[in-house]
This record gives sequence, C-alpha cells and structure tokens, in this order.
Amino acid sequence: MKKAKTKTNAKAQASAKAQANTKAHAKKKTKAARSPKITLRLNGKKAAVAAPPMKRLLDTLREDLGLTGTKEGCGEGECGACTVLVDGAAVNSCLVASCQVAGCDVQTVEGMARGNAKVAARLHRLQRAFLEHGAAQCGICTPGMLMAALALPKRATLDEIRAGLAGNLCRCTGYMKIYDAVAQFLDGERR
Ligand code: FES
Ligand code: FES
Repeated sequence: MKKAKTKTNAKAQASAKAQANTKAHAKKKTKAARSPKITLRLNGKKAAVAAPPMKRLLDTLREDLGLTGTKEGCGEGECGACTVLVDGAAVNSCLVASCQVAGCDVQTVEGMARGNAKVAARLHRLQRAFLEHGAAQCGICTPGMLMAALALPKRATLDEIRAGLAGNLCRCTGYMKIYDAVAQFLDGERR
C-alpha cells in the first residue's frame, strides 16, 4: 500500500515537473518571438534569428539555430570550447551578445564539412587531419579547437600554433596530437 502511494507521489511530481518545463519552454519561445530579428551570414548563408539582443551567442546558436556543434565548457571565457569565427576572428561565443554579430559573418563547426559528412572524404581538410592524428578523444574541445585553428595564419610555426590555441583547453589528448594535426593542415594550405 505504502509502495503504491510512493509511486503515485513520484508520478505526480514527474508530471508537475514536465508541466513546469513545458511552461518554461513556452515562455522562452514567446520571449524569442517578441525579440527583434538579428540578421547575419551564418556558415556562408544569409540567416535571421529572433533572439533577445543580450542573449549569449553560444545560446542563440545552440537553442535558436539548432547548431549544437558549438559546446559550452566553463561559460566564462576560460576554456575555448565555445569558439566560433566572427568575421574570421576566433571568439568565445559565451562572452558575445547575439546583437554584436548583427551583419557579421559567423562560422561554426557545422560549416566545415561538405554535405552530411558521413564519409571522411567530405570532411574539411583540418577535420581530416584531426581524424588521422587521433587529435580528438571525448570531442568536447574539438569544435572550438577547429575554429581556433582555422583563424591561425597559414605560416604559423609550432610556437605560434601553441600560442594561437592557448585559450582552448583539452583534458584528453595532451595537446601534441592536436598541434601535429594543425601543423599538417597548415602545411597543406601552404602548398
Ligand atoms: Fe566559452 Fe568556456 S564556454 S570559453
Ligand atoms: Fe576531450 Fe579535448 S578531446 S577535452
């Protein structure tokens, strides 16, 4: 009897939680719908998104534009997991307000591969180099690393690669494989 009661309570709690989530989601949606449109170029195509101007670019990308390739690590500009390119420069999207990219060219990891990228041949050369060198393990830092590496000058030396990626933290690889992959990619770009 007691067990049945506990079960009913748990069910009621779960349903209340689901209702609260639905309400919160609806509220978020209404807020977004009321927000002014921000227009930009996203991964080479024109895009427009209704998002609160001060919403973090990271959240607008993930929640409103469905681009979940960009990751959140620290949320405070320390780890580089959220790196995207804005007008060719690597920025931490957790520190950028969405309104700041109005009229800008924004590139995320989704813009790198061709097609649905199910085969390695469709990957961007830098992604292929990561694959070949085993430069990704858990993969959380990888989108940010790729974006930061794309912003490096073609002639970057190993020291410059290290310095250019210093704001991107990786807990898995020990960095050397990442540096090797980036060096191979840049070498190919110079030929
Ligand atoms: Fe943006 Fe860590 S999530 S720097
Ligand atoms: Fe896991 Fe870099 S591959 S954090």
